[in-house]
Amino acid sequence: MEKAVQFELRLAERMSRLGTETAFEVLNKARALERQGKSIIHLEIGEPDFDTPKNVVDAGVKALQGGWTHYGPSAGLPELRRAIAEEVGRTRGVQVQSEEVVVVPGGKPIIFFTILALADVGDEVIYPNPGFPIYESMIHYVGAKAVPIQLREERDFGFDVDELADLITARTKLIILNSPQNPTGGVLDRQTIRDIAEVIGDRNIVVLSDEIYSRLIFEGKHHSIMAEPGFQERTILLDGFSKTYAMTGWRMGYGVMRADLATHITRLMTNSNSCTASFTQMAGVEAITGDQSSVTRMCAEFQRRRDMFVAGLNKVEGFSCRMPRGAFYVFPNIRKTGWKSKRLADALLEQAGVACLSGTAFGDYGEGYLRFSIANSMENLQTALKRVGEWTKKNL
Ligand SMILES: Cc1ncc(COP(=O)(O)O)c(C=O)c1O
Repeated sequence: MEKAVQFELRLAERMSRLGTETAFEVLNKARALERQGKSIIHLEIGEPDFDTPKNVVDAGVKALQGGWTHYGPSAGLPELRRAIAEEVGRTRGVQVQSEEVVVVPGGKPIIFFTILALADVGDEVIYPNPGFPIYESMIHYVGAKAVPIQLREERDFGFDVDELADLITARTKLIILNSPQNPTGGVLDRQTIRDIAEVIGDRNIVVLSDEIYSRLIFEGKHHSIMAEPGFQERTILLDGFSKTYAMTGWRMGYGVMRADLATHITRLMTNSNSCTASFTQMAGVEAITGDQSSVTRMCAEFQRRRDMFVAGLNKVEGFSCRMPRGAFYVFPNIRKTGWKSKRLADALLEQAGVACLSGTAFGDYGEGYLRFSIANSMENLQTALKRVGEWTKKNL
């Protein structure tokens, strides 16, 4: 029996401003339906359906057995910071020192710590919408002003740089970029990155560049604003292991930033997590420095699925879908169905057995869209298409 609660729960006021990530709620709802015997295809959660590569698992096991089970430095093990500095330097075409790297448990803590460390009450933070919901949640949480910039379908979910120029004010402290992008699969090309850099000019504004999907690009190349002249000292680059090496459960990511800021982000690590798990970090060294063929294979498989799934969605009544250029999400426009996104996502889950997310889970500008993760087998994706097609035939 549940214990009777005598005392009223008195949360801090700021907790009312904290948002969430709907993917986990939809997953729970889908699991509850499965317990009732329903068949559900899971296209809601954003994690690769591949195993962590064997060489990385082996390195983790070896580290556990070798005694890497103790506290380490808050900013990360020197071996891993060095490997990350070299990797980011090489891939982004900049010079990075180990002191500019902070290793944290996942990509999310870099978002959390950056906003906590830089945004004061009343400061303005510009962020992509539709976008990863944690940005908006954290901006509200610290009492800063959330200023959305709309990602537009007609621009392949890039944004209009003139609109960005109009949104920047004297209170703008931080601009968040995300490429390749969740949930749209949009990729910021080199020219757009240059235009963004030009619009920011020499203002003292920091850019949080979320590049967690940097290795999952199907067309073109990844470009980071960190490489633009004058931007290395104003950029916090976020990347990690969750997506690239299918390591979501290991909890490891990193931020690359000027050394003086890195010491403050490290203080937040000391105050919250102490450090990232030591054996996880040793596996991270292997992930970065070892065989990369698993990344190439995974990316090619996502591309195959994307091609099939987008072609299939475009045949569904009321759906139209652009070809995402990166990440592993597909973001169809469903306006012509006449349904609101949330209602349609709920109906597809409950009546068609396909779990996806409403575009509004990523902000107000996500109305009119659904997000499907293609991190599921070709066979399941084909079944999902069949179910969605049959459901729309019956219900639209
Ligand atoms: C854009 C974006 N940034 C950051 C993260 C966080 O990744 P992690 O699981 O490493 O914390 C995600 C995860 O879905 C994401 O989509």
